Amino acid sequence: MLVGSLRKESVTRKVALALKGIAPPSLALDIVEIRDLQMYDEDLETETPPREWVSFRDRIRRADAVLFATPEYNRSVPGSLKNSIDVGSRPGGRGVFSGKPGAIVSVTPHGLGAFGANHHLRQSLVFLNVLTMAQPEAYVSQAGDLVDADNHITKETSKMFLVSFLNAFSAWIEKTADK
Ligand SMILES: Cc1cc2nc3c(=O)[nH]c(=O)nc-3n(C[C@H](O)[C@H](O)[C@H](O)COP(=O)(O)O)c2cc1C
Repeated sequence: MLVGSLRKESVTRKVALALKGIAPPSLALDIVEIRDLQMYDEDLETETPPREWVSFRDRIRRADAVLFATPEYNRSVPGSLKNSIDVGSRPGGRGVFSGKPGAIVSVTPHGLGAFGANHHLRQSLVFLNVLTMAQPEAYVSQAGDLVDADNHITKETSKMFLVSFLNAFSAWIEKTADK
């Protein structure tokens, strides 16, 4: 999982941790941290790129699929998440996301939000050849108190929806992953 928020009390990270707890056994969800990735700069794309880029790329390469959990910043994704996508997408033709199954959960503490982030992200993922699950879509609104201190989802209907979302993602990976 890539989580698009860096702050300690992130509601998106809480949702991501809750997803880890309710995922089916077929989905082992781990957060791959993006905090230490230098801002993408083509001048650093040498024989020896920053080691944080190298280990991030290796980690994504090893993943069977990528689940993106993102807040919405200005109707798009936070720069930190976009930066991780940029880092993973290069060098040209050797991007680590290409061909991987993916899915998006976008999160907002507000009543209205998360659509812009979700769809801006989809736009990048099309270009990166991530096989992004179309349905079900997951827009998590009013997420401020959705997850308790033990990473449990407090609202039963939301929990049921997210369980079905994860089951669908597992089936999507099964269907699309290289055999
Ligand atoms: C720079 C910035 C832009 C934001 N833009 C939006 C937005 O477009 N839509 C929205 O629903 N919330 C927006 N918010 C509020 C975030 O949804 C809120 O801060 C949320 O808690 C961030 O996610 P996190 O808790 O996972 O860090 C914005 C917050 C920041 C800091």
